[in-house]
Amino acid sequence: MPALVLLGAQWGDEGKGKATDLLGGSVDYVVRYQGGNNAGHTVVVGDQKYALHLLPSGILSPGCTPVIGNGVVVDPSVLLSELSGLNERGVDTSKLLISGNAHIITPYNVTVDKVTERFLGKRKIGTTGRGIGPTYADKINRVGIRVQDLYDESILTQKVEAALDAKNQILTKLYNRRAIAAGQVVEELLGYAEQIRPYVADTVLVLNQALDDDKVVLFEGGQGTLLDIDHGTYPFVTSSNPTAGGACTGAGVGPTKISRVIGILKAYTTRVGAGPFPTELFDKDGEALREIGGERGVTTGRDRRCGWFDAVIARYATRVNGLTDFFLTKLDVLTGWEQIPVCVAYEIDGKRVEELPYSQTDFHHAKPVYEMLPGWSEDITGAKTFSDLPKNAQAYVKALEEMSGAPISAIGVGPGRDETIEINSFL
Ligand code: GDP
Ligand code: IMO
Ligand code: MG
Repeated sequence: MPALVLLGAQWGDEGKGKATDLLGGSVDYVVRYQGGNNAGHTVVVGDQKYALHLLPSGILSPGCTPVIGNGVVVDPSVLLSELSGLNERGVDTSKLLISGNAHIITPYNVTVDKVTERFLGKRKIGTTGRGIGPTYADKINRVGIRVQDLYDESILTQKVEAALDAKNQILTKLYNRRAIAAGQVVEELLGYAEQIRPYVADTVLVLNQALDDDKVVLFEGGQGTLLDIDHGTYPFVTSSNPTAGGACTGAGVGPTKISRVIGILKAYTTRVGAGPFPTELFDKDGEALREIGGERGVTTGRDRRCGWFDAVIARYATRVNGLTDFFLTKLDVLTGWEQIPVCVAYEIDGKRVEELPYSQTDFHHAKPVYEMLPGWSEDITGAKTFSDLPKNAQAYVKALEEMSGAPISAIGVGPGRDETIEINSFL
């Protein structure tokens, strides 16, 4: 039975949480495979609104087992407060599984994230300050702490000491900060251990057995394709692989198991933090998209940068992820514009370029080439089928589909679970 990957096709905040939640009722497992609590996924169920950061959006579907895979970085304090927040609202979280191989975001990783950004000054990345980059750096440097280390005090102590040896030199000598005491960190981490223990599992085995038993597994990406450490707008990226391949390494499932890769695509574009953004708007249209779309960060509360739809990026996302489908979100936000510009290519140093340039310098120079599409003024939030949409909205969707290189199989016309037009079934 199918393993599906659902991921962001732009710079994050495309509406992955809503899309995952929508499918959650029909799948057996929802798995986060990378990132951590830098993600902010909003899910609206009836009159209830949930903001999830670390937990998979499937946690809101009673029949579904939520899984935090080995590729995720886990801040234990955030994990426990997110769980208790949901429990207080009556959500059963007892099925959650966490990989023993997932890495822990320690308090010193959060400190290093913040001081590094401060030190970079105007060259900063604009991270979420949650310790994501430094935790992945420790993982790659082989000085990371894993969830399983919480259950062997002696190993945990040795590893924290080893990690802090070098970091304290940097913190005190370069950043002029106080050294962090290993003992205190160990004590704090051990304080979380027993509360987390019931969830810890060999998730690779569980997921592969589930697939062998014909269960449906959905991999939910955090962030988006252009924030990918390898395929995004480096260095203005996150420190993991939200692209489809990340689901294999981040959950321990072979690529032959994945049958469908769904790209979540906003009907316009947003970005949080620093970095190039060719279609960014600095005028009243950008302000209107932010206001109507509610484009404010779920994690940091920062205003999102807003711009028109960029088909060059969508085509790129199709290619690097092997997308089989798109889920187009927030079409309703575009209601009311007489004409809607869509970026179909870039002009770079006087030349028209159809595909995303690999060169950072070229991408920084890219100017959007726009095609104008006719808008619509009718309220579309109640639309249930494609034919309920006004003709111009239909044409906008069809044009985006043609430019982006994969079928648009669902369309979001509002934040609610049921405010979705399903065109092709995902399962
Ligand atoms: P994620 O990080 O990809 O899960 O996206 P976020 O939750 O950060 O941001 C998407 C926002 O758009 C959330 O507030 C959603 O409730 C909202 N949303 C999702 N789909 C739609 C849609 O089709 N229409 C409208 N108006 N809002 C949507
Ligand atoms: P969701 O899952 C949008 C951005 C940050 C920053 C860069 C690096 O809600 O789509 P990090 O803290 O990861 O080291 O920051 O990545 N970023 C996101 N932008 N949505 C997200 O998640 C993001 N997660 C990280 O703003 O530019
Ligand atoms: Mg988000």
